[in-house]
Amino acid sequence: MKAMSAIDSRQSPDEILASGEYPLSRKDLADIAAMIYADAGIYLNDSKASLVYSRLSKHIRNLGLSGFREYCALVSSQEGAGARREMLSHLTTNFTRFFRENHHFEHLRDEVLPGLLNRARSGGRVRIWSAACSDGQEPYSIALTVLAMMPNAADYDFRILATDIDPKILAQARAGVYDENALETVSPAMRKQWFREVDAGGRRKFQVDDRVKKLITFNELNLMAQWPFKGNFDVIFCRNVVIYFDEPTQMKIWSRFASLLPDAGHLYIGHSERVSGDSKNLFDNIGITTYRYIGKSAGRRA
Ligand SMILES: C[S@@+](CC[C@H](N)C(=O)[O-])C[C@H]1O[C@@H](n2cnc3c(N)ncnc32)[C@H](O)[C@@H]1O
Repeated sequence: MKAMSAIDSRQSPDEILASGEYPLSRKDLADIAAMIYADAGIYLNDSKASLVYSRLSKHIRNLGLSGFREYCALVSSQEGAGARREMLSHLTTNFTRFFRENHHFEHLRDEVLPGLLNRARSGGRVRIWSAACSDGQEPYSIALTVLAMMPNAADYDFRILATDIDPKILAQARAGVYDENALETVSPAMRKQWFREVDAGGRRKFQVDDRVKKLITFNELNLMAQWPFKGNFDVIFCRNVVIYFDEPTQMKIWSRFASLLPDAGHLYIGHSERVSGDSKNLFDNIGITTYRYIGKSAGRRA
């Protein structure tokens, strides 16, 4: 595996790649990139210098440190474990939206859920995984799609697992409280039925109803680490996260997903992502960023 933002012999480690309050040298960036790659699989190269600078400089000031060098020393030390976790929260991108890439939710509703809901009604188990759920808008959109078809889905063995590496964003997801503008992509009927207005320190916000939350379990999970699952998932949403990983890491993730899907299980990925390389043989591409696992019995295609 190539080192992230590795410094080659023609480059000066002291060259300043971004500056303002504190200079960010190539060596600082290489150290930060190596840590975030080891911790989360996120690939950063020199083109991300201003992003790293803008995400971390305020944090460095709050910690009362003299600059990026001292910060790198802290986050790579044992005492700096907490600061290193914070670094991860600062460097991950949490952008999400209710019903983002709505064609996935339409496909789920029209092609996938009818069969899964029938199975649940006849006593079967159904599991859906939202595998980088950010502040919860993705798993809540899945739950709202399910509830529109079966309002009492929580009475059956039908559950959505929603995971993310970032505990801070997961706390927001569990709370399920959003600004009104976040709800722009939620239909008026769904808003009325499944959200209630709350006063959040004088600001008008909207909270997801407990009947929706009941369908979802939120857990911390690093896609790079071991996954603690016993059973299969019928559907996996893993959208707009592997784009931050390098190609070999993406390929590993696709085949790990395949190992968790039943024959003809579905995988939805982000708009700029593609199942690529050898993993392409594991899936049929059946729509825009929509894949169906070909199944263990079908074997690998040539
Ligand atoms: C851009 S958001 C995508 C949210 C949602 N899936 C969507 O498409 O709207 C990416 C999320 O991936 C999470 N993430 C980054 N690296 C991860 C990793 N190694 N394991 C699990 N989650 C990760 C981030 O914390 C962030 O919340």
